[in-house]
Amino acid sequence: MFGRVKPLDAILATAEKKSLHRSLGPVQLTLLGVGAIIGTGIFVLTAEAAQKAGPGMMWSFVIAGFVCAVAALCYSELASMVPVSGSAYTYTYAVMGELLAWMVGWALILEYAVAASAVCVGWSGYFVGLLRDYVGITIPAALANGPSAGGIINLPALTIGLLVTWLLMIGTSESAKVNAVLVTIKVAALTLFVFATFKYLNNDTGNFTPFTPNGWGIIGVGGAAASIFFAYVGFDAVSTAAEETKDPQRNVPIGLIGSLAICTVFYLLVAGGAIGAIGAQPVTGLGGEVLSPGSKELAERCASLMAVGQEPLACSKEALAHVLKSIGWTKLGGVIGLAAGLALPSVILMMLFGQTRIFFVMARDGLLPEKLATIHPKWKTPHIVTAITGVFVAAAAAFLPVGKLADISNSGTLFAFFMVAIAVLVLRLKEPDRHRPFKTPLIWLTAPLAIVGTLALYLLLPFDAKMVLPVWGALGLLIYFAYSRSRSHVGLGRVEVHEDDPDAPQQPVAPLPGGIDIND
Ligand code: ALA
Repeated sequence: MFGRVKPLDAILATAEKKSLHRSLGPVQLTLLGVGAIIGTGIFVLTAEAAQKAGPGMMWSFVIAGFVCAVAALCYSELASMVPVSGSAYTYTYAVMGELLAWMVGWALILEYAVAASAVCVGWSGYFVGLLRDYVGITIPAALANGPSAGGIINLPALTIGLLVTWLLMIGTSESAKVNAVLVTIKVAALTLFVFATFKYLNNDTGNFTPFTPNGWGIIGVGGAAASIFFAYVGFDAVSTAAEETKDPQRNVPIGLIGSLAICTVFYLLVAGGAIGAIGAQPVTGLGGEVLSPGSKELAERCASLMAVGQEPLACSKEALAHVLKSIGWTKLGGVIGLAAGLALPSVILMMLFGQTRIFFVMARDGLLPEKLATIHPKWKTPHIVTAITGVFVAAAAAFLPVGKLADISNSGTLFAFFMVAIAVLVLRLKEPDRHRPFKTPLIWLTAPLAIVGTLALYLLLPFDAKMVLPVWGALGLLIYFAYSRSRSHVGLGRVEVHEDDPDAPQQPVAPLPGGIDIND
């Protein structure tokens, strides 16, 4: 079962040929991480976390951040050893064989595609607010929400999904400058938010009590941690840049832990400011029952509260803008909305791009039909796979709520990180003497913590999100045994070392979360 291993040395031979210029220092690496991390999680899912954990969501941010930190340290060891393609898929192929690698690649598809859908829906909430406030057009709720949130179809989410797909098909990728501007916009928006709400960061308003209204379990702080994990996804961009880093042994952990720490502090200040300013108690049904985020019941209850002029944090689709508007900073609220509206589509672009990269390497290894990765003669992009993925991503965004999509994406991501933590341990045992440019500190503590942490967060996901992974996995196994196994290049004895592939889609400036470098 574990027999088909892609030899590490063959992979490393590619790395030597490639030898990227080592130019990144600790500050650039940290900023790269921050840019890749901040997105829908903090701008939108804060409301969902409030619905589960209330003010206790501050603990949820800490817990999810900690699990990411230990997973990140494991990721870095493999990223520095196998620097050709900083990807969980390749690591697993080299360490634990083809079947598990296939499963990880298959789970990464879930992660990227569904994350892209989640960000489409998150963007839609802000876009609807922007249209209302700046243009005076109100999109009817039925056309701005999926069925489970009380609507029919989320048209803005569908539109942005298709638009970004089209941009990717014709060969758009983010330029370094655009990326830097968008990172600045995101960070500036959060900084303004923190300044505007700083004075509420105390319990004078009584908004911090009760602190954990739903307790610590699956519908409380723990469940919120599993969902808000989405806010940290993207940190692995730092590990994927290991090969371009000066002194990776020192700088990669600084970049990883630094960017995670900065985001955690931002998230805590933002969450604390939001709680202090307008409160974050979960919205309950008329009988006091807990309503789950993204449910029809919650949407209806929110609609009836809004009809009488109340809009709790948990009901808002543009959480941060809403907080500022509620405390009289109307203009600033608009600015935050604009920042989210501008910056979030780039996260969709990165996620969708990551998806096409994964398909690309899996197809190149013979595990998926090579036709899927056909490159368009003029656009130089894998247009077929981009179009197929884009249609699915946009359709999911049109009909499903953001929290559910984020949870499903988390289940795939958590599985990939879980496998990486195991791979790091297996490789330490199998090849203790192999050169490791970066060694995970206290590996026998860090890796088990990552394994237990990712498993615990997975178990704390809502039932339906949890079930998607095994169902998706079963489908993956079916395809593997029916199609991929007999066509695998490793299985057929063809171990190829890819040099620069002129047909490969160009790598975007910011490495992708969990991303695979197709240029290897
Ligand atoms: N961390 C990214 C976000 O929150 C995925 O959008």
